[in-house]
Amino acid sequence: MAAPPEGPRPIVVKLGGSVITRKRERERLRPKVLRRLAEELATAPGPIVVLHGAGSFGHPGARQFGLAAPPAADDRAGRRARGASIVAAEVRRLHLAVLRDLVAAGVSAASVPPATLAANRAGILEAFDAAPFRDALAGGRVPVAFGDVVPDRAWGWSILSADTIAVRLASELPVSRAIFVSDVPGLLAPRTAGPLRVVPELDETLWERLRPAPGAPDVTGGIRGKVSAMLALARSGVDAALISGLTDGELSRAVGGNPSTGVGPTRDPRTPPDAAGIDLSHRKAEHVKVVLNEKVDGRYRYWDDIQLVHRALPGIDFDDVDPSTSLLGHRLAAPIVITGMTGGFPDAKQINENLARAAADVGIAMGVGSERAAVVKGQYPESYSVVGDYAVPLTFANIGAPQIVPQRPGDPVIGLAEVRRAMELIHADVLAIHLNFLQEMVQPEGDRRARGVLDRIGEIAAQVPVLVKETGAGISRPVAEELRDRHVRAFDVSGTGGTSFAAVEHYRAVERGARREARVGKTFWDWGIPAPVSVVQLVPLGLPVIASGGIRTGLDVARAIALGASAAGTAGGVLRAASTGYAATREELDHLVHELKVAMFLTGSRTVVDLQRTPHVVTGESRQWLA
Ligand SMILES: Cc1cc2nc3c(=O)[nH]c(=O)nc-3n(C[C@H](O)[C@H](O)[C@H](O)COP(=O)(O)O)c2cc1C
Repeated sequence: MAAPPEGPRPIVVKLGGSVITRKRERERLRPKVLRRLAEELATAPGPIVVLHGAGSFGHPGARQFGLAAPPAADDRAGRRARGASIVAAEVRRLHLAVLRDLVAAGVSAASVPPATLAANRAGILEAFDAAPFRDALAGGRVPVAFGDVVPDRAWGWSILSADTIAVRLASELPVSRAIFVSDVPGLLAPRTAGPLRVVPELDETLWERLRPAPGAPDVTGGIRGKVSAMLALARSGVDAALISGLTDGELSRAVGGNPSTGVGPTRDPRTPPDAAGIDLSHRKAEHVKVVLNEKVDGRYRYWDDIQLVHRALPGIDFDDVDPSTSLLGHRLAAPIVITGMTGGFPDAKQINENLARAAADVGIAMGVGSERAAVVKGQYPESYSVVGDYAVPLTFANIGAPQIVPQRPGDPVIGLAEVRRAMELIHADVLAIHLNFLQEMVQPEGDRRARGVLDRIGEIAAQVPVLVKETGAGISRPVAEELRDRHVRAFDVSGTGGTSFAAVEHYRAVERGARREARVGKTFWDWGIPAPVSVVQLVPLGLPVIASGGIRTGLDVARAIALGASAAGTAGGVLRAASTGYAATREELDHLVHELKVAMFLTGSRTVVDLQRTPHVVTGESRQWLA
């Protein structure tokens, strides 16, 4: 890979398809505008990178052939591949026009076609080689790239927008500023009441309120995609501005370094907005930080209530013990699952990579945390997709139940397309839908609408294999019965006694001065159904039950299996190791498997099925629950 060029960082200029083409007429240039913009770019005093959208040369075809969506079930290669060729040829015709005008204006343009250096997975950028950009800059030329049709490792072919390239270049080159040239002088605030007004600055709440325009010709998110890209740039410390390309001189002022041009994010969008605003990546990072730094487990260890009866004469050799098992049709070396925890912020990639590599090496299952950040907001998809790089025998995608129903007017709702993306992003075998209404009640920005969730789960479960999990408050039998009747294939109880999300959110609420939520978190710290009790309630339903919530040792795993669980899951129990590195993660998993085998040997259980039948005694509070 080429070394970063010496000297000043380049400015990335993205010429929007809306300004250089007539968007509603197929393959129609705005020749005068393009020529003038090329001349204004020629005045740039320092290095620049030029990107352009596809406008009417690419969007209608991309829409016609569905290149921004998953392939139709009946056509993986045929129509989609043909569409990819047609659209790629269209955008190249526009690209040639852009190159011609840039060169005529005196810009030493170097064509950099993205299809040869980038690949998506399920419509999300996965691989990108910035070397051709660096090489062009190092040679004194202006790299010119464009929104293109690129190979897609899940869908065959899909669209990579110039906005996404701009965001990626910001971290790869790096760049000094990004200028988005559009056909509007700024952003109009979404209308509530009163006159329309231009927003003075961008923030995450604005993005949340910008609805995708139904039937719009733009397949890359239009103004919403631009705002999202600008916020992502601001998060990585790059100033981004949106200017009008229809006003003479605006672009030359912007590339000349006039910072007052255009509208851009003027506050750090990482600051968590309050009330309805949300910054998912910040929240995800805080969860990990709180779990690592505070005591957030439940106050009572219910798994200690489950005693396995010692067998003084095991009747087998330790070497005979075989903890392998089948879960949801997949063979595991031990009945252990790393339950979904994280993703959606930069450090999560390393955590998930450590977990995935260790899970693959040991031969156990794993899930990721909620993928809303990636599939709805395009945030840090690589922090999830890294799991797909390892041969984990069973993987669970993850979305939250509150997000499958509308929460606030205009809020994005996760539908089947997003579900499929979430699964494809990590090559998931099963989708985990998590129930977390306790957590939502303690989050200052929590989602509190639960009506309709059951039916939506049923709709999703009719299309893809679904496991329903709690997040620390357990699942009772009547709820599980309703879910079973809606095609749900398995449960992860995530009962009380382990990581308490009321506790996690209590600390976050304290930090923000949200006094009411902080208090609710404390009051409901131990709310829920104890994990072992939930297992005992659900096993008779006949579906696989994963026992989680407070599983911290291989003995806990054995206790869960003895209650009839198909496997045991742990999240908080492996987070510290996963934050430390692969070796620590591997060691922790090896300990779990070894302790499980010790428990199997001492109960004379050669197989997992034997362990499910081993005698046990229930004591303490769990006994009272089950009486
Ligand atoms: C840092 C952290 C983040 C979590 N994020 C998610 C999530 O995004 N989705 C989910 O289904 N569960 C999530 N969980 C919940 C776990 O999957 C699990 O249900 C819960 O932590 C109980 O298990 P434990 O006691 O072993 O931690 C998270 C847990 C932790 C510790």
